[in-house]
Amino acid sequence: MIIQQNISLKNYNTFGIAVNAKRFISVTSVYELQQLLKVEKDIFLLSGGSNMLLTKDIEKLVIHLNIKGISIDNEDENAVYLTVNSGENWHEFVLWCISNNYGGLENLSLIPGNVGTCPIQNIGAYGVEVKDTITKVEGLEIETGKLVSFSNEACKFGYRNSIFKNSHKGKIILTSVGFKLTKKNHLLNTSYGAIETELALKNILKPSLSNVSDAVIAIRKSKLPDPKEIGNSGSFFKNPVISKKQFLKLQKTNPNIPNYVVSENEIKIPAGWLVEQSGFKGKRFGEAGVHEKQALVLVNYGNASGEEIHQLAKKIQATVLKNFQVSLEIEVNVMQ
Ligand code: EPU
Repeated sequence: MIIQQNISLKNYNTFGIAVNAKRFISVTSVYELQQLLKVEKDIFLLSGGSNMLLTKDIEKLVIHLNIKGISIDNEDENAVYLTVNSGENWHEFVLWCISNNYGGLENLSLIPGNVGTCPIQNIGAYGVEVKDTITKVEGLEIETGKLVSFSNEACKFGYRNSIFKNSHKGKIILTSVGFKLTKKNHLLNTSYGAIETELALKNILKPSLSNVSDAVIAIRKSKLPDPKEIGNSGSFFKNPVISKKQFLKLQKTNPNIPNYVVSENEIKIPAGWLVEQSGFKGKRFGEAGVHEKQALVLVNYGNASGEEIHQLAKKIQATVLKNFQVSLEIEVNVMQ
């Protein structure tokens, strides 16, 4: 195990923020990680770096989780059970599933990041959330170095949420995720408007897993910036859920406000709409900005500091609150 000194993390976070790690190590096995935890307690975990905003140099030991490997634990004629190590790239894993005709993750194509972080925020897109296919999550307890396992229920998944963002935050290093995927009679979810349109454009009536994946890739590419071209972390804010009473009040002055019913008394409204209506879409403030095609995504034009992006986020939150009396919650992990 080699600990490197003064490493730039610019290529380790999709926002492309140039902060330095005083000490940095890339670990490739659970054993290595366990050995490290025996001597190092003050650590900063880095996985795919796709859902974090780094704001300053890191004094703690930065551990880059790079444990790879996919194993088939079990299968029958209908389903396959996989264990996937946390350092596998998410999109490559999704493509591997599609090439093996394993169904369930195709709507989650092209999401940046690694497998090990997908349960933390319960990644979701185009009508599917990863919680629907997760069977278990394994990790190491930082305090004891012990291997621990969580069933799907124990993870308490919610919209962009799980125990790993709450009671277990900072306590567990996720090392692998278990999935149950279909081998036949795939339950395709094409009800999301843009997917239907994309399939219809190609005259596809009976879509395959790869047809759905291709449609999702096309939609994402048309709306979301590629982190390799322009630094970003996907949705920067969560879509807020407000009371029906507040929604009806807002609707009076904004008859076109998009909305999704969550429950009898709760309505979700797209944060992207609120940000766009507040005049931020496509606006640039120095090196930071709001993406021109999707107002939910903040971007780094090249040399933004994390603080610059965070200040822009705060300005957006304050303006949306003033205009709509709605609080926008940041979805990305902002380094404190
Ligand atoms: N909208 C605007 N202006 C914008 C963007 C969106 O008015 O600039 C409105 C439109 O009315 C649109 C609606 O918002 O119909 C919803 O937009 P979209 O379908 O693009 O989805 P979203 O709610 O903005 C969520 C996820 C995305 C996910 C998409 C597709 C959250 C916070 N974001 O975005 O997730 O890809 O749905 O399912 O739930 C991510 O987490 O990084 C991410 C990209």
